[in-house]
Amino acid sequence: MISLSQIRNVAILGSTGSIGRAALDVLSFNPAQFRLTAISCHQQTELLEQQIKASQPRYAVVTGPQTPNLTEWFSRGSQLQDATHRKLGMDHLVSLVQSDEVDIVVAAIVGIAGLESSLAAAHAGKRLALANKESLVVSGSLMMEAAKNSGSEILPVDSEHSAIFQCLRSGHQPSDLRRIILTASGGPLRDWPIDKLSKATVDDALSHPTWQMGRKITVDSATMMNKALEVIEAKWLFGLEPDQIEVVIHPQSIIHSMVEFQDGSVIGQLSPPDMRLPIQYALTFPQRVASPSPKMDWAKPMQLDWKPADPERYPALLLGFEVAKRGGTCGAVLNAANEAAVQLFLDHKIKLTEIATICREILDHHHFSPTPTLSELFELDQWGRNEVQRWINTKC
Ligand SMILES: NC(=O)c1ccc[n+]([C@@H]2O[C@H](COP(=O)([O-])OP(=O)(O)OC[C@H]3O[C@@H](n4cnc5c(N)ncnc54)[C@H](OP(=O)(O)O)[C@@H]3O)[C@@H](O)[C@H]2O)c1
Repeated sequence: MISLSQIRNVAILGSTGSIGRAALDVLSFNPAQFRLTAISCHQQTELLEQQIKASQPRYAVVTGPQTPNLTEWFSRGSQLQDATHRKLGMDHLVSLVQSDEVDIVVAAIVGIAGLESSLAAAHAGKRLALANKESLVVSGSLMMEAAKNSGSEILPVDSEHSAIFQCLRSGHQPSDLRRIILTASGGPLRDWPIDKLSKATVDDALSHPTWQMGRKITVDSATMMNKALEVIEAKWLFGLEPDQIEVVIHPQSIIHSMVEFQDGSVIGQLSPPDMRLPIQYALTFPQRVASPSPKMDWAKPMQLDWKPADPERYPALLLGFEVAKRGGTCGAVLNAANEAAVQLFLDHKIKLTEIATICREILDHHHFSPTPTLSELFELDQWGRNEVQRWINTKC
């Protein structure tokens, strides 16, 4: 367990993304507790450069080998003679994560691209502040086993799972828990007539009402695939059966999730929607310190609503429960099909509603295995992406 009596070295993987930038904010708010050891981007070297200037990490890594102007980026370091070592490639990032120079890893890379570094942190016994839910969706069993063997603490950054984690801290036994209730904003299209959803444009899907997030997760939120992935994530993090997980629409995004105990008592975690709070809690746990996040204004009247999630509107949600039940190779296939289909939607090649259809078809005809190895999961990831391409080719 991490003690805050000494300064901790933090690596933020994906520092140029929405979670990465919020994590940098948290660190700059708590300079006495954390030292920034490493940051990374895939392609956004301009933004990484600004982060180097502002935060002066020991290492900055670019993972995209095809990134334009790389030579210029490297030479800028020697011109400025800054103290930051500049590196290229995922291998460097993975080595850093495993090294003694890092105590806490904030896993904020999007998609399966984050899996290798998340797994490395879990194997190396680091505290893993996990935003990259795809790591658990694809290889939950391997991640949890690695953490168990190494003593790594996997602490959720997803606000829903952080809420559940916080609610479970009240000294209860796992057997006291009846179920958890994951809340969902319902996404930007939650009030659209169902028969209009197929007409949603990329801009419509990206206009999230309560959260500012990266493009992939925002589309996942519009289809509720995000909640489907979170159901799978919750199963692994908290050792739950899928029928112990409920999803409700809560448009205000104030109650981040709840736990219900055997006696029917429910405990929830509330705060204004701001990812810096769950990120900070994953860094400071078990302590709580002042945070840069806005606080609830109890002097203002406020309404909190919830309603059941309609499976007709959100067919992706059913996939999440199904995959959580079947396990094995299903998570890797669902994730690959979804990542590829979301990209096609963002490229204006398919309709929003086709994302869940594609995922369902590919999941249904994959060759299931209950205990895949890591290399089998990576092969299936590629297979799933090829299948999405085949789906669109046959359609054109
Ligand atoms: N945003 C949220 O509020 C939120 C909430 C809960 C959970 N999460 C989870 O947190 C993760 C990050 O989400 P986000 O919204 O922060 O995404 P984002 O804004 O799109 O940022 C993604 C980050 O990953 C990097 N990246 C992209 N492709 C990569 C690759 N192939 N290899 C290595 N790095 C790569 C990006 O670098 P470039 O900038 O150079 O492209 C960027 O730093 C996701 O798993 C998401 O589900 C996000």
